[in-house]
Amino acid sequence: MNSSERKGIILAGGTGTRLFPMTKVISKQLLPVYDKPMIFYPLSTLMLSGIRDFLIITNPQDLESFKSLLGNGEEIGVNITYEIQSKPKGIAHALIVGEEFISDSQVALILGDNLFYGQGISNILKNANQKTCSSIFAYRVVDPERYGVVEFSKDFKAQSIEEKPDNPKSNFAITGIYFYDNSAVKKAKTLKTSKRGELEITDLNKLYLEENSLNVEVFNRGIAWLDTGTVDSLGEASSFIKTIEHRQGYKIGCPEEIAWRNGWIKNSQLEIIAKKNIKSGYGEYLLSLLEE
Ligand code: DAU
Repeated sequence: MNSSERKGIILAGGTGTRLFPMTKVISKQLLPVYDKPMIFYPLSTLMLSGIRDFLIITNPQDLESFKSLLGNGEEIGVNITYEIQSKPKGIAHALIVGEEFISDSQVALILGDNLFYGQGISNILKNANQKTCSSIFAYRVVDPERYGVVEFSKDFKAQSIEEKPDNPKSNFAITGIYFYDNSAVKKAKTLKTSKRGELEITDLNKLYLEENSLNVEVFNRGIAWLDTGTVDSLGEASSFIKTIEHRQGYKIGCPEEIAWRNGWIKNSQLEIIAKKNIKSGYGEYLLSLLEE
C-alpha cells in the first residue's frame, strides 16, 4: 500500500451507556444493524472512498472481539491495525491516539456508529479523499441541537460551527465523517478539554474554519445519514437496511463486495469468504456476485 495515500481511522470506543443493557458486555459497534455488525458500515464507507489502510480504535475490553471479527484485514485486501482508547476522551482525541499510524499521511476519521447510504455517495467520498484540503459534511436534520451545527451564508459558505447549541443557527448537522490534511494531529493536540470532558471534533473543525481551509459540503436529500445512538435509532437503521436490501437484492455495507469490486481481492478469495458464511445467506449473496 502506498504511504502517500490517505489513511482511515474508525472510532469504535465509547461506553455505549445509552444502549444499556445491550452494550453491557458487547461493544455498540459490534451490535447488528440488520444482517451485519455495525462496524461493517463505516468500514465500507471508507473503503468506498478508496482507503485501504485502517486503524480501529476501541475501548480496552472490546479489542479482542474486533480483532476476531476483522483480523488484519488481509482477507478483504486491506490493512487493519488496532489501538486502544482507555477512556472516551473525545472524538478529536482519536487523532492523537492515531498519531503514529497517521504519520505523514492525510487522514479520514469516521465514527463507528454512523451509516451513510445513497445516490452518488461513492463519488462524493472519492472526491473528498482525493482533495488535499480538509472536508466535512453537513446534513439537514430536524433535531440539530443533538449535533455539531454549521451555519451557512447565502452562497453556502460555512460561517460558524457550534457543538450541540441550545439555539441552532441552522438545521444542518455535521456528520461523523471527516477528511483532514496532515495538520489534524498537531491541531488536535492544541485543543482544550470541553465542559463534558472531551476533546471536541467541533473545536478542531473550528480551527480549520478559522484558517479558511475547511471544505464543508452538504449531503443532499438523496442521501441517508443514520446514527445509531439510541435504541430507537438503532432499530430504525436496521429496518432501513432491511427494506432496501429486500427490495433490491443488493447488500448495503458489505466490505467483501466492495473489496472485490475495487479489485482488491480475486474471485477465489471472495469464494473462500462466501463459503465460510454460507449458512446465513451472506455467503450466498457473495457467491451470487461471482455469477453476475
Ligand atoms: O454523529 C455526529 C456527531 O458526533 C457530530 O455532529 C458532533 O459534532 C460530534 O460531537 C458527535 O456527537 P456526539 O458527541 O453525540 O457523539 P458521541 O458521544 O455519541 O460519540 C460518537 C461515537 O464515537 C460513539 O459511537 C462513541 C464513539 N466515541 C466517542 C467518544 C466521545 C469514542 O469511541 N470515543 C470517544 O471518546
